[in-house]
Amino acid sequence: MNKKYNIAVIPGDGTGPEVVREGKKVIRAAASRFGFSINFEEYDFGGDRYLKTGEILPDSAVEELKKYDSIFLGAIGHPDVKPGILEKGILLRLRFELDQYVNLSPVKLYPGVDTPLKDKGPEHIDYVVIRENSGDVYTGSGGVTMKGTPNEIAIQNMVYSRMQVDRCLKYAFEYTRKRNKTKTLALCGKTNVLTYVFDLWERAFNEIGEKSYPDIKRDYYHVDAISMWMIKNPEWFDVVVTSNMFGDIITDLGAITQGGMGVAAGGNINPDGVSMFEPIGGSAPKYTGQNVINPIAAISCGAMMLNHLGEEKAADAIENAIMDVTANKLKDMGAGRMGYSTSEVGDLVAERV
Ligand code: IPM
Ligand code: MN
Repeated sequence: MNKKYNIAVIPGDGTGPEVVREGKKVIRAAASRFGFSINFEEYDFGGDRYLKTGEILPDSAVEELKKYDSIFLGAIGHPDVKPGILEKGILLRLRFELDQYVNLSPVKLYPGVDTPLKDKGPEHIDYVVIRENSGDVYTGSGGVTMKGTPNEIAIQNMVYSRMQVDRCLKYAFEYTRKRNKTKTLALCGKTNVLTYVFDLWERAFNEIGEKSYPDIKRDYYHVDAISMWMIKNPEWFDVVVTSNMFGDIITDLGAITQGGMGVAAGGNINPDGVSMFEPIGGSAPKYTGQNVINPIAAISCGAMMLNHLGEEKAADAIENAIMDVTANKLKDMGAGRMGYSTSEVGDLVAERV
């Protein structure tokens, strides 16, 4: 019998709906070629709904979203809404409530795409950052006293439990084994200053690695140092695992080396629950409705989602189709500079799938 997947779609703000439309187009093409079916249910959460109704994300929606096989998200962020409200109220809330404790960010330079790294090509830039997605300064632990006075004190705690670190590391080791490239997992931390938190990470990393993953080579980098090496020698990396805040920063660094906003895809993963896939590009309000934004990141998210659902062949077919299009068709990856419209890029990839 054909497999059937139920996908919740949150197109979101700005250009989110345009890129999501192309992502769905390509996913549908893959479904019909590889013999599974997809049911998309749309949800209108985002800035417009918030401005109209005052509602960000009703509790009932969170419960409803738990019933899907995956969530496909466009972009969250609206120029008329104060920064932080939608990000915290939708994106971070879903990550936390659905316990999507891993953020998966492939850093892969597709052929034909420009990188700001001199003398580096697709053969050098192909690794994955696994960002812990549930702890750290993102937990909101802390507070402020004497606000508005010269003595104001603000505290935002870097929080990690052994359980959080262990489950993320286990995922990272498994992922490295399955990826089967150089079988090297690098921990990115700051053991020379953050001597509590990264001592915990480092001990867990070595204990788990020694005991259960002797086939995986372990490396360690301080976060400041890895920021240089990701530029100078990206070919060193296979899989990098890191904390939430450091991961937030180095995944943007990685993204620009693979061509930036229009290309980088991300997955918020709960290995035992509902995961959510989102292009990291943002809502790009300036380009809304013009059909000029690059949908490759969203399409690549679709491939990640299918891979996660177990449709590996379909995911590979999408990846290969993307690479054929970036190598042979697109002039540039920037909005309005591709030589094709948003929907034409979707068509090109879908035809190839
Ligand atoms: C990301 C974003 C979010 C984060 C923001 C929008 C809250 O930068 O997905 O990396 O900091 O995690
Ligand atoms: Mn970020």
